[in-house]
Amino acid sequence: MLKNYCIVGLGSRGLSMFAADILEHYADVAQLTGLCDINPGRVQYAQRVLGENIPGFTDFDAMLDSVDCDIVIVTTKDATHDDFIVRSMQRGKDVISEKPMTTDEKKCQRILRTEKETGRSLRVTFNYRYAPYKTEIKRLLSQGIVGDIHSVEFRWFLDTVHGADYFRRWHARKENSGGLLVHKATHHFDLINWWLGLDPVEVAAMGSRQFYLSARQPNHGERCATCKVTDACEFYLELSRDKELKSLYQDQEGYDGYFRDGCVFSDHIDIEDTMSALIRYPNQVQVTYALTAATPFEGWQVAFNGSKGRLEAFEPESFVVADDMTEFAHRSSGRKTTDWRRASNDHDTPLEQLEVRFYPLFGGVQTFPVPHVTAGHGGGDRRLRDDLFREVQSDPLGHIAGSKAGAMSILVGVAANRSIATGQFVKIADLFDPCDVVS
Ligand SMILES: NC(=O)c1ccc[n+]([C@@H]2O[C@H](COP(=O)([O-])OP(=O)(O)OC[C@H]3O[C@@H](n4cnc5c(N)ncnc54)[C@H](O)[C@@H]3O)[C@@H](O)[C@H]2O)c1
Repeated sequence: MLKNYCIVGLGSRGLSMFAADILEHYADVAQLTGLCDINPGRVQYAQRVLGENIPGFTDFDAMLDSVDCDIVIVTTKDATHDDFIVRSMQRGKDVISEKPMTTDEKKCQRILRTEKETGRSLRVTFNYRYAPYKTEIKRLLSQGIVGDIHSVEFRWFLDTVHGADYFRRWHARKENSGGLLVHKATHHFDLINWWLGLDPVEVAAMGSRQFYLSARQPNHGERCATCKVTDACEFYLELSRDKELKSLYQDQEGYDGYFRDGCVFSDHIDIEDTMSALIRYPNQVQVTYALTAATPFEGWQVAFNGSKGRLEAFEPESFVVADDMTEFAHRSSGRKTTDWRRASNDHDTPLEQLEVRFYPLFGGVQTFPVPHVTAGHGGGDRRLRDDLFREVQSDPLGHIAGSKAGAMSILVGVAANRSIATGQFVKIADLFDPCDVVS
């Protein structure tokens, strides 16, 4: 059956992950009936590039008043998700929200309560669950390969291309994004919750900004476009050199003053670049987590220790290969998906296969190969969209994520932020009322 979708938030995610992709791949099951953004220039740009005479709006209610809509897709900045989720459900619409579902515990509770009161449904787009490599870990854990799980070690690395980008945009302020422990780590905490099949109990965390500091570039400007020290800056970004950055952001600055090339060393930044957390789960399962936003490579590692042995996974996502590239735009074009351990020794072979390794407590290692998928988020984006827009026949590993998963993942980050501020352990139960959870 053909369903009608409206999108609010026409930045890069709204346009590429959803609007353009719906038209290209899901026209038989999905129809785009409305486009909304607070920035009229981005609305017009979206209408132009999508080229299908889709009605455009800067007022969300006006959109819902005037077009047919079954499901609203929310792709605005994080701290505004709750408002659009709640208003959509109150008007009888189901919702697909980008991660993080929201940025603090009050907004989280409001979403859960509205979902319960209205009977509408909310899906949260945890694309990483759908990536084949992460799915293989879930499959093996579901079979009980490590026995009773005692502890998990999880580390995520953001390189100086991707990681730096969070420090130039709205993400750099906690009031917009909740900081990287919410904005970014919602993916990671969701994976841990999903892999374990458990809800987190208690969190302690540390966090600081040690790299993206003005001391690194003392004479920096407010943004790259007006900066006087671009020649000396490793993070200089020239928006006009990239077609999308220019059309989607630079050309639309006049409407809302949002510039996409903010200085990564700005004093107004209040998010951390170096974070770690201890998370306790039921049955005394202990998780150690670390997130770093200024590494030479990008990727992640996880290990599960249990009564039968240890399961390990490692996915290198990129390596910045050229060492003479001092400008951000050059460095980003010099990124390759490769094994950084070999690349650093000049064996720059692209990965064709990843593997999950299981080390039994007694006996030889077992390996479980998985093809290395480099398409959007380890292949998760396409599989997620198939799941969202086409009827799902079965979901044996529980990939579908709703509001409870959205809540549980952000609450770990909210608790971590509170722990950083207070130096105390923070209980998840102190942050929300489980009565509002729709199971
Ligand atoms: N699942 C993933 O892996 C993934 C990847 C990238 C981004 N995201 C999420 O997608 C969302 C959008 O990210 P992005 O990179 O496209 O950001 P962006 O800044 O490029 O786009 C956000 C858009 O929302 C609009 N907007 C902001 N406030 C609004 C409001 N009150 N009303 C209407 N429009 C408003 C902005 O004008 C902008 O066009 C974020 O929540 C982000 O966390 C998820």
